Amino acid sequence: MTDQTSRPAVEPFDAVDVIRTKRDRQRLSPEQIDWVIDAYTRGVVAEEQMAALAMAVFLNGMGREEIARWTAAMIASGERMDFSSLDKATTDKHSTGGVGDKITLPLAPLVASFGVAVPQLSGRGLGHTGGTLDKLEAIPGWRASLSNDEMMRQLADVGAVICAAGSGLAPADKKLYALRDITSTVEAIPLIASSIMSKKIAEGTAALTLDVKTGAGAFMKEEADARELARTMVDLGTDAGVRTVALLTDMSAPLGRTAGNGLEVRESLEVLAGGGPADVVELTVALAREMLEAAGVRDADVDAALTDGRAMDTWRAMITAQGGDADAPLPVAAHVEELRAAEDGVVTGLDAMGVGVAAWRLGAGRSRPGEAVQAAAGVEIEKHLGEEVRAGDVLARLHTDTPERMGRALESLEGSWTLAAPGTEVPEHRIVLDRIA
Ligand code: URA
Repeated sequence: MTDQTSRPAVEPFDAVDVIRTKRDRQRLSPEQIDWVIDAYTRGVVAEEQMAALAMAVFLNGMGREEIARWTAAMIASGERMDFSSLDKATTDKHSTGGVGDKITLPLAPLVASFGVAVPQLSGRGLGHTGGTLDKLEAIPGWRASLSNDEMMRQLADVGAVICAAGSGLAPADKKLYALRDITSTVEAIPLIASSIMSKKIAEGTAALTLDVKTGAGAFMKEEADARELARTMVDLGTDAGVRTVALLTDMSAPLGRTAGNGLEVRESLEVLAGGGPADVVELTVALAREMLEAAGVRDADVDAALTDGRAMDTWRAMITAQGGDADAPLPVAAHVEELRAAEDGVVTGLDAMGVGVAAWRLGAGRSRPGEAVQAAAGVEIEKHLGEEVRAGDVLARLHTDTPERMGRALESLEGSWTLAAPGTEVPEHRIVLDRIA
């Protein structure tokens, strides 16, 4: 890691030349990349210069070697974790984010119940997608920040840890991600891939399963883009010695029947108790199989671990180890309103984006980093894909502590349900679209 004290007397490059190289569709040299990431982390490359470079990358892309070098430079900007002293295999997953994506909650304890270590460094939500840490903070007492020693102890004792990434991991990405967020340069495949993979490789997991989402509620709306992102990340992980596999999964409709922090914890508990919505169970099981396979655990009976209570026991141990009260009732919103159907029909479409924005507007998400979120706010879906609806039926319940938020949340749900004539055959909703290794 470089800091102001190790600043060279003369910088070897000029940011303007690096920007011009990419602006003019040339390949950045390895030395240019190493320098620009390091100099940006040290504050020598100004925010506006990095913004211009990010936009040039957004518009003109980067080749495979450039992306690999960019990722390596971001890893080198901070510390690397090392789990080699654990006597368990480590296996992790990352989702590119979606609406109702609570999968990490049942998945981490489920996989750990097979004796492997799951070091799940997670984030907070910004915009319409929720954050895993915000969800778990709905549990009274639960603590997201752990020291490296606490994390190692919990991995050894419980196997599963879901916690906040320390500030020392890929600090260049932290700075760059915040800049991309305000310069409309988030949705660039080379930048997303290097951002995610720099953190995952620096985290030190031996195996990684990626859940790359596509559809209305995902970063990558088009399947071809999601495929390219998945391919790029799998190649980056494999080249760095991490066993990496990606599942391409559908995010056109919300996952499960809840979007919102405490509501999603409740639904995760249903899955851990052997029930829960079929799509959430399907994806949890598919990802668990991949993670276990990558950790060398073959033919694991994942479904049995959900129904016989093993995964729930590990969940309880994981929550308790981080100060949470696994028996405490989850918070309940002060106000609940129902959205009702205007006509009969069968649900052929449910827009993930509309539901995600509604949950966010109800108070489940934040509009600025650091803003407080409501633990009980969110959307509970009563009628999901393929279900018959009669005029007057409840389509969804909206939960919030601040009723003045209801109007705008209801607006974002307008047109979110697509109804066809009653009795219309609806094709099966496929969650896992492909596997990329
Ligand atoms: N998640 C990340 O960590 N980085 C991105 O660029 C996008 C999603």
